[in-house]
Amino acid sequence: MKHDIYSTEGLYKIVEKTDISSTISRHVIYAPLIAAKAKAGHFVILRAKEGGERIPVTLVDWSPENGTITVIIQAIGKSTVQINSFKTGDSFSDVAGPLGTPVEIKKWGTVMGVGGGVGIAELYPIAKAYREAGNRIISVLGARNKDLLILEKEMESISDKVIVTTDDGSAGKKGLVTDAMKELYAAGEKIDAIFTIGPIPMMKFVALTSLPHKTPTFASLNPVMLDGTGMCGGCRVEIGGKPKFACVDGPMFDAHQTNFDQLMKRTAAYREHEKQSLENYQKDHQCRIGLH
Ligand SMILES: Cc1cc2nc3c(=O)[nH]c(=O)nc-3n(C[C@H](O)[C@H](O)[C@H](O)COP(=O)(O)OP(=O)(O)OC[C@H]3O[C@@H](n4cnc5c(N)ncnc54)[C@H](O)[C@@H]3O)c2cc1C
Ligand code: FES
Repeated sequence: MKHDIYSTEGLYKIVEKTDISSTISRHVIYAPLIAAKAKAGHFVILRAKEGGERIPVTLVDWSPENGTITVIIQAIGKSTVQINSFKTGDSFSDVAGPLGTPVEIKKWGTVMGVGGGVGIAELYPIAKAYREAGNRIISVLGARNKDLLILEKEMESISDKVIVTTDDGSAGKKGLVTDAMKELYAAGEKIDAIFTIGPIPMMKFVALTSLPHKTPTFASLNPVMLDGTGMCGGCRVEIGGKPKFACVDGPMFDAHQTNFDQLMKRTAAYREHEKQSLENYQKDHQCRIGLH
């Protein structure tokens, strides 16, 4: 079906929403202009309601034919809880994108993707694009437990080898993604490049594990973003001792050059405010449910 990409009819409507774990949902959204331009590594900034918080999320999939984009969102705070309560047929007030610099897709040889938690969803389009470019793909997927492990089948379909680790051993091997990386290196596996997406401490330790082996390693950074266009400076990160804006220069950067400790400090700065905001939302939400 051909879409008038400039028509506003049905724009940002959720054409399909599915829960893939207790806190993680997949949203297929009608956004033909974005779908027509999307590339692996791009993200969008969406708002649930007019005047609401601007939430950056990675494009997991897109279909120019159907005019849709797919995002996978973990509910961790006020806005993501609100977004994941949406149902098929609901609409976002706006979705801006595609944003960021897409990942350069080339032939490395063997590419290892290391994804943690919802980061596995963000890794999927990158691993898929590298596979399509003729690379051999090893995927190392980590989660706290079986319930938080997502897209295992999808990752299997685009990988030559998949290793799963969970903190509690409820799926795959008990341990951390870095344990699996160390085993692969010890077994003599030749790895030509690593892409990692997940919690900041995980990405820091992935970089530290690959550093002695001199494997080029890239991490998708997730600082707090506001405008997503390089104007506000909110997403400043330090790469090789120099400031960069993750929203326009990234979000993918050389992990061996990244100051992860500074990134952790900056993202933790708003934690108390975010906790309060979620508590207020949940209180308000419960009161409304009680009225019906
Ligand atoms: C480039 C990029 C891609 C991302 N892709 C995904 C994705 O595909 N799926 C997914 O579930 N999450 C993704 N995130 C994280 C997601 O944006 C945050 O989880 C979300 O903004 C949290 O908002 P909240 O109100 O629910 O939680 P809050 O309680 O406001 O915040 C919880 C935590 O989320 C982070 N956060 C809060 N506000 C922002 C913001 N404006 N920008 C970035 N981080 C913020 C902070 O670390 C904060 O401590 C991505 C972030 C970035 C920067
Ligand atoms: S989000 Fe404002 S400069 Fe990047």
